[in-house]
Amino acid sequence: MRVGVLTGGGDCPGMNAVIRAVTKSLIHQCGAEVLGIEDGFLGLAERRARPLDWQSVSGLLARGGTILGTTNRFDPLASAATAQATVDHVRALGLDALVAIGGDGTMTIAHGLAERGLAVVGVPKTIDNDIEGTERSFGFDTAVATITDALERVQTTGQSHGRVMIVETMGRYAGWLALEAGIAGAADVILLPEIDHDVEAVAAVCRERESRQRYTVICIAEGAKARGAELTVERVVEASPDPLRLGGVAHVLRAQLQARLASEVRATVLGHVQRGGVPTPFDRVLATWYGNEAAALVGARRFGRMVSLQGGRLDSAPLSEVAGRNRRVPLDHPLLRCARQVGVSLGEG
Ligand code: F6P
Repeated sequence: MRVGVLTGGGDCPGMNAVIRAVTKSLIHQCGAEVLGIEDGFLGLAERRARPLDWQSVSGLLARGGTILGTTNRFDPLASAATAQATVDHVRALGLDALVAIGGDGTMTIAHGLAERGLAVVGVPKTIDNDIEGTERSFGFDTAVATITDALERVQTTGQSHGRVMIVETMGRYAGWLALEAGIAGAADVILLPEIDHDVEAVAAVCRERESRQRYTVICIAEGAKARGAELTVERVVEASPDPLRLGGVAHVLRAQLQARLASEVRATVLGHVQRGGVPTPFDRVLATWYGNEAAALVGARRFGRMVSLQGGRLDSAPLSEVAGRNRRVPLDHPLLRCARQVGVSLGEG
């Protein structure tokens, strides 16, 4: 059996751990020949692949990023011709199956290729934790740890200077990162894409704390926006399956608050610091588990599925139920109530 493995979309801690686990498991299970496709679906289109064996994936468990390279600037489903060319390339490489490690965009492409007859298995990756069909993507735990550390660091400097400190997280249209890290890092205000905020209400929290605590820490997701405002778009990447890149809403909020407060207001955009570096022990275990399960699905010829975690148990979901969707924070999620009841403002006014 010959199996291709690729990583798609933005990189994320734990990708290498999945590559290692899926390769070793496929070799262990059936002596499979494994090919690593370079730079995601772009490498597939350009037929750039290299053999992966036991030795070449050893020592990868804790390494950040992806040894295969990745891109989110190429969409094989952009036209019927490129989609067909991709299917033809998979056949030309002699692949019996393809394991696609990636986020919602990659799963949507994987589903499109599965519909065109390819034997595909997906593995959910993203720091955003917003993939439908699984309660956890690997990489999220590591990013939450990084953001939590940043929030704690800005807290001590904010306290020293008596400032309002705003920290912007990634997460696109889902607020999981800001919500969980905001709670873990003791943010006073958490602003999510799912709840449009009231700038006056946020300013009121800061004013109240000005006299009592001297400082305020605000954790804002890049996709958050004030009531009636537009998303803060940093750039548009035309060739991407998801062209809008968000970023900079912390600076927008900084100016709005500065106009209303006596304290100095400062903003930090964490950016790719959240995506780089070594995975946490949790993500190393999850990535290894997912890689092993992906190999098991290939071995059992259960294609068109994505490995998943449901109720803390390893499972898999049909790609048809994952593709084109985005798992956002439900407005009745217990963590929102929990945040409010421990005194965190969600900027609701
Ligand atoms: O989806 C993962 C993610 O890290 C988002 O949180 C973020 O908006 C986006 O990727 C950034 O992508 P890029 O690195 O291409 O700017």
